[in-house]
Amino acid sequence: MTPAQRTLVIFGASGDLTARLLLPGVGQLLESPRGGDIQLLGVGDRPMSDDEWRQRVSDSFAAGGATGEWVPALLSATRYLQADVTKADDLRRVFAACDGLPALYFALPPAVTIAVCTALRSVQIPEGTVLALEKPFGTDLVTARELNRQLATLLPENQIHRVDHFLGKSTVLNLLGLRFANRIFEPLWNGQNIERVEIVFEEKLGLEGRAGYYDKAGALVDMIQSHLLLVLALVTIEPPSSIEPDDLRGAIAQALRATRVRGDDPSEASRRARYTRGSIDDREFVDYVEEPGVDPARGTETLAEVTLSVDNWRWAGVPFVLRSGKALSGVRKDIVITFKDVPHLPYGFEGGSGAERLRISLSPDELELEININGEGDPFVLDRVVLSTTFGAGELGPYGEVLAGILAGDPTLSVRGDAVEECWRIVEPVLTAWRAGEVPLDEYPAGSNGPAGWGTVRDVGAGEEGR
Ligand code: BG6
Repeated sequence: MTPAQRTLVIFGASGDLTARLLLPGVGQLLESPRGGDIQLLGVGDRPMSDDEWRQRVSDSFAAGGATGEWVPALLSATRYLQADVTKADDLRRVFAACDGLPALYFALPPAVTIAVCTALRSVQIPEGTVLALEKPFGTDLVTARELNRQLATLLPENQIHRVDHFLGKSTVLNLLGLRFANRIFEPLWNGQNIERVEIVFEEKLGLEGRAGYYDKAGALVDMIQSHLLLVLALVTIEPPSSIEPDDLRGAIAQALRATRVRGDDPSEASRRARYTRGSIDDREFVDYVEEPGVDPARGTETLAEVTLSVDNWRWAGVPFVLRSGKALSGVRKDIVITFKDVPHLPYGFEGGSGAERLRISLSPDELELEININGEGDPFVLDRVVLSTTFGAGELGPYGEVLAGILAGDPTLSVRGDAVEECWRIVEPVLTAWRAGEVPLDEYPAGSNGPAGWGTVRDVGAGEEGR
């Protein structure tokens, strides 16, 4: 075998994330014209034969649609190494097994990731190594800072890739094109013209056997602290000079630094709830607290909503509502920009349904702009119409896209250390208020739209059609 340029080393190779998301992403990338020649090394603390590992890789590649002629060669070359990567000697064995420049992918729980970073300090890290770390990045602001501090002693920042697969979603990236490659949006993209912004990620999926992780995270940390705050950052950033890593990541960090809980009052600006038994599409759900592995004493929420403000000239006064939940009646994955009403509708017009709305849907990938036009029949009666288009699907899925950056050593789509800390800083007051019991933990039946009253108390423009 010719030495591969990169060796992708997966720590946590026997885990669920590796099989479900990471390996299919690797397969997609290698299948695409952007894939290159890599060596793949699985590392885990459990015993697994090379053949078992190969089967796992092969199954995940097939699930991701990777069936090219290159697959058998990669499968016969890939190996599994049993190792305790919290030990320096085992890490040396891992580096010795790499033919190419190592890309160490940590598909590990945060506490183990921290232990591995500590062990890496006593190991000679080969030049050109990059690290890729899965979320959650730390478990709060203090641990995230500590992890960043440790990482900074190991490698330069641009060789550290904090992975957030939302940054690899083609629609999230399309936000940049939509905003900065068109003249019509940017002049209106501010608090003078925009009434409110809603970023919603509602799923029909429940816990799906992930209690070990999810019950300690909850909807706020699982979705809002990471993914949705990055989406908010891309909605609110100032136009960067380029989409090179320094410009783009600098703009993202700047937007996050301006973001805080609206009114600095989490008891007013946040809500939480968890699901109780119900059914969705003929699937029965038990109470969240009855799910195997859930500790009811933790009071974990499965639906979270936070209203934020972005305190700068452009966004002063605009509420940004971020909401995410599981086991809901429908899938809604949207960014909704609601514009302000016109300052004066000429007397004589009738009808119309208020201000324009731009809806960017993350799934399916589409865009809708609702506007008022003179309707059929009486020309002075206004009608609401929707202009819509679909976003082209990226050639790679989100994991493939993010992995492409990692293997190419390009940190554009990786989250910079300061941005991660900002995300924790933003949600910290909410977590504190929730722990202190200042915000009630509501309930909603699985398969409903959320707790009774949530839709109307602070309705943020979901509208019936959106639910
Ligand atoms: C993950 C969360 O990061 O993102 C899950 O842990 C969530 O709880 C998922 O379901 C949603 O992202 P996607 O891209 O799979 O829809």
